[in-house]
Amino acid sequence: MKAIAYQKFGNTEVLQTVKETKPSIQPNQVLIKVKAVSINPMDWKIRKGEMKLMSGSKFPKHTGADFAGIVEAVGPEVTHLKKGDAVFGVVKNLMKEGALAEYVAVSASLVWKKPEHISFAQAASIPVVGTAAATALQKMGTIKPQTKILVNGATGGFGMFLLQLLKQKGADVTAVSSTKGLAYAQKWGASNVIDYTKVDVLEESITYDIVVDLSGKMGYANAKRIMKPKSLFLNPIPQPIDIPTSLINNLFTGKKHVVILSSPSSKIIDTLRSAIDKDLQIEVNKVFPFEQTMEAYQYAEKGGYVGKIVVEIG
Ligand SMILES: NC(=O)c1ccc[n+]([C@@H]2O[C@H](COP(=O)([O-])OP(=O)(O)OC[C@H]3O[C@@H](n4cnc5c(N)ncnc54)[C@H](OP(=O)(O)O)[C@@H]3O)[C@@H](O)[C@H]2O)c1
Repeated sequence: MKAIAYQKFGNTEVLQTVKETKPSIQPNQVLIKVKAVSINPMDWKIRKGEMKLMSGSKFPKHTGADFAGIVEAVGPEVTHLKKGDAVFGVVKNLMKEGALAEYVAVSASLVWKKPEHISFAQAASIPVVGTAAATALQKMGTIKPQTKILVNGATGGFGMFLLQLLKQKGADVTAVSSTKGLAYAQKWGASNVIDYTKVDVLEESITYDIVVDLSGKMGYANAKRIMKPKSLFLNPIPQPIDIPTSLINNLFTGKKHVVILSSPSSKIIDTLRSAIDKDLQIEVNKVFPFEQTMEAYQYAEKGGYVGKIVVEIG
């Protein structure tokens, strides 16, 4: 079968199309014929060697955590899926595995039936960012109508889920995005929008109960200027040092720094499925064929788009 692999850390040029043996499955696994894989920033952070501590430096490496496809075979312990089911899922260890291939063998506990009314490209866009958004929502605790929430970097994959989950809760959200994203942020439920190319939200006099930084460019130290005395800063892009320092910091201040480390589970996917059944929209900005995987990553890494980028495997 064909697969995408790389033999050294680097830019998109290290991505190669290779021939590999079709994987075999363990008793608790399913073999998926992959139809779509969505791109996440984590893919290129790993590929560039920024996550070496967790990914290790053993090659070849594969890429693409989120997938959708058709079940080709199931292990004897698998009861909730059968050959021919349309499914979506995520690889178990995204630091070491990847789904950008014709077939992928994965733990059945991380594979779910695809909602019928969405495409394979949309389904492949759910697990990583959907789970992260649902986890962020849990960390926010009780949201009252007067709770003021700022989402910075609001119209990428993560923001798309988070804004719409918050909308379903009736939250008061200010979304910060580039000019292209403003209309989407409004459509996805933001009460106010700020164009970061024109206005610096840190220079505004408004303060918030919750600040979520999905761009990684604001940081807790800066965000404190626009946080209320008792408030939360949610950080899904922590540096290793942030984990212990946030715990110590939080003992001495009402402005809490909370790190988000999410991990997909059937419980969270059920929550997302209900939200999708209500009205949560999944925007796929652009779909690339498998042969243009390198171009897909170049496009994704440049930024400046709304929603998700997907590679389809014919
Ligand atoms: N901890 C976890 O479990 C977890 C899970 C999933 C994702 N993440 C991380 O969360 C982050 C967001 O994920 P994503 O998939 O949504 O990424 P994304 O699609 O790349 O979205 C990032 C957004 O930030 C915006 N942005 C860039 N510069 C900005 C600035 N100066 N001010 C405000 N916004 C700015 C971008 O807009 P433009 O492109 O228009 O500039 C883009 O919409 C990533 O770093 C990802 O690795 C963490």
